[in-house]
Amino acid sequence: MNALVEQRQQSQLRFQQGKDNIIVGDIDACPLTVDELVALDASSPHVVEVFDGGLTATVFHLCIKGRHYNLKRKRPQALVHNVDGETSFLNEVQRRRDIQRLKDSPQTALAFKHIVATLYADYRRGFILSPWIDGKPICSFSREIFRQIFASQFALEQAGLMEWDMSPGNIIYDGRQIHLFDFGYMYPYDPLEHYNSDGLEAPAFHAVERLETRNVFGYLLRYQDVMTQNDQLALYRELKEVALDIYTEKLIWLKQNYAKPAIIQWQTAIIERWEYALDNERSLKNLFIAESFRSHCLDIADDISGKSCTAMTLRRIDKVITMLATVYLQLENNGALLFDNAKLGQVELIKKYQEYRSLAANYQQK
Ligand SMILES: Nc1ncnc2c1ncn2[C@@H]1O[C@H](COP(=O)(O)OP(=O)(O)OP(=O)(O)O)[C@@H](O)[C@H]1O
Ligand SMILES: [Mg+2]
Repeated sequence: MNALVEQRQQSQLRFQQGKDNIIVGDIDACPLTVDELVALDASSPHVVEVFDGGLTATVFHLCIKGRHYNLKRKRPQALVHNVDGETSFLNEVQRRRDIQRLKDSPQTALAFKHIVATLYADYRRGFILSPWIDGKPICSFSREIFRQIFASQFALEQAGLMEWDMSPGNIIYDGRQIHLFDFGYMYPYDPLEHYNSDGLEAPAFHAVERLETRNVFGYLLRYQDVMTQNDQLALYRELKEVALDIYTEKLIWLKQNYAKPAIIQWQTAIIERWEYALDNERSLKNLFIAESFRSHCLDIADDISGKSCTAMTLRRIDKVITMLATVYLQLENNGALLFDNAKLGQVELIKKYQEYRSLAANYQQK
């Protein structure tokens, strides 16, 4: 276990078991008393709809005196069964506190406009109140959408925060703008010293990879029967072009702020790899194959570790097995086999994912 992660987990578990509270925002922003917000259920006249599918919380859409709110209330028991899952509500309240400070400061407010405001949150009473965002979980992409997402992630990183869970249900699109609102898996880190909140241990994880892994490659898999290979590649090209712009900006920022040489080298290598891929169609296809495989494997590992698998986990596993059977050498040559996968051969890998398939079938959440 990574020492930085263990330290964070221990301190969150200690906080959870203690008595200290975290309050974010001003009580005057609450349209009901705290007791009323805590006691409210689906039969309340203020409730417009209830989202009960979330793994850490129940979300109520409220309308009170013509204004719409989102009330996120902690589940007694999180449905993700690992330490990060069990502390994700605490983590979210901690991050809401960090982000609200950034949104309240005139110097940083604009950069965080795609990140939802917190009207009021009370950790011990188990709720977070935000304005309701009128939109739907993101279900298509464009250059502009990629730009808003990557720019928001970059703003977060500059503030020392890394969002790990960029899944579709955590990004709302209102027809013009995207909104980020679920920070259960957003952790503090030092972007000038570390690749991510795991420190220097896992260079594979970074902002663009997070969107690809949790979201875009799942989307492409879901629509693989209706999107041609060329359509898929065109969308991937768009993503990479926008990502390249933002990462180039990030590299300048890292240099201006005297980031560690290892961080500059890492960021430069990512940029060079993408520039090379964007230069010709064949390299782009190679990168697409390598990164889609990497993303499916990372996402599967996450779902298995949290015992929070879905039908999509099974689809990803099937895709991984097919790719291992058909393009194994290409995967190996393009650095797509990460962590333990790098130590296994083709047959062992296929066996591993077949075993994962039965595990994932047992861990189905929804
Ligand atoms: N401010 C908001 N405005 C509109 N809809 C929202 C808002 N916040 C959350 N939702 C809706 O509620 C759903 C669940 O919210 P959220 O992701 O915060 O809960 P969660 O329990 O952490 O979910 P999970 O653990 O599965 O990610 C979202 O997918 C979204 O559809
Ligand atoms: Mg969520």
